[in-house]
Amino acid sequence: MAEMAPGPRLSVLFVGQRSLAAQRRGRFVAGSGAHPARMAPDLAAALIGDYTHPGDLVFDPLAGIGTTLVEAVHLGRDALGMDIEPGWVSLARANVALARSQGATGTAKVIKGDATRLPTRVPTALRGTVSLVLTSPPYGPTMHGRIEHRHGPLTRFHNTYTTGGTRTGANLAHAGRRGLADGIGAVLAGCVPLLKPGGLIVVASRPWRRDGHLVDIPGQVITAGLEAGLLLVDCRRAVHAALRDGHLSARHTFFQLVAARKARLAGRPVSLIQHDDIAVFQSPLKCRSSREPHRGVPAHRPGDRRQA
Ligand SMILES: C[S@@+](CC[C@H](N)C(=O)[O-])C[C@H]1O[C@@H](n2cnc3c(N)ncnc32)[C@H](O)[C@@H]1O
Repeated sequence: MAEMAPGPRLSVLFVGQRSLAAQRRGRFVAGSGAHPARMAPDLAAALIGDYTHPGDLVFDPLAGIGTTLVEAVHLGRDALGMDIEPGWVSLARANVALARSQGATGTAKVIKGDATRLPTRVPTALRGTVSLVLTSPPYGPTMHGRIEHRHGPLTRFHNTYTTGGTRTGANLAHAGRRGLADGIGAVLAGCVPLLKPGGLIVVASRPWRRDGHLVDIPGQVITAGLEAGLLLVDCRRAVHAALRDGHLSARHTFFQLVAARKARLAGRPVSLIQHDDIAVFQSPLKCRSSREPHRGVPAHRPGDRRQA
């Protein structure tokens, strides 16, 4: 990550100075690129740096291939991840193991489970120990995937969240708009018992477009958090465009560009989305600040520095 100037924390995070390829190079095992909606590593690192200290525990209930966990352990934080898809869980474990082999000092555990049923599946000993829940919800398929056009017509691949062969009913990526909103609410509510006093829940999300219409996922996240009884303590923006010679240089996917162009051709004055919305929540019951270190991720034997 680029060095940040000392001074007050700004609401805007510039996390697009390096390309995503540069941010991910050497940090993830082969196959990780199949995940359709990975968080930018520099965004994960910036948020972990802003909201935690070395030794703190970071939890991602929708962990995917483990970007937040990888950045956490590289920054000396411990991490816990959960995902419903076995394929992403395996990749997240492998990515954490790679980070450890590269000298990351934090420890991490990845659980396969349904995060809408939290806090179950998380060891009871971890309740009240999480300093930061850092996560991002799944998006609709129009934003994701890769395209291939060398052999015939344009085809899209790597645009599905499913890894186990069959669609899991509880996978929020397939839940529809209402189901996704309800699911996010259940995930956020289920994270509260895991927070230590003063702990935060930070959700990165971005709007996307379907048939030219904006699907306001960040708005749904904020509504879901408030309905789950959380306090919204901050809203920030993570800018993915690069700043070059005083101008913003766009970083976007093919699908985002096509969606924006189509909408403009249809007469809608839309812009090319270049940011994530960052919602920062705190539990009203847990606002008392505490810097007590947690006692480590269970299932690690003393001295065992590998991923559990
Ligand atoms: C936006 S992706 C997270 C990507 C992750 N931040 C990364 O960089 O790899 C959301 C993840 O939520 C997972 N997911 C969807 N529904 C879930 C559920 N009910 N419980 C746990 N994980 C779920 C999906 O499998 C997907 O990997």
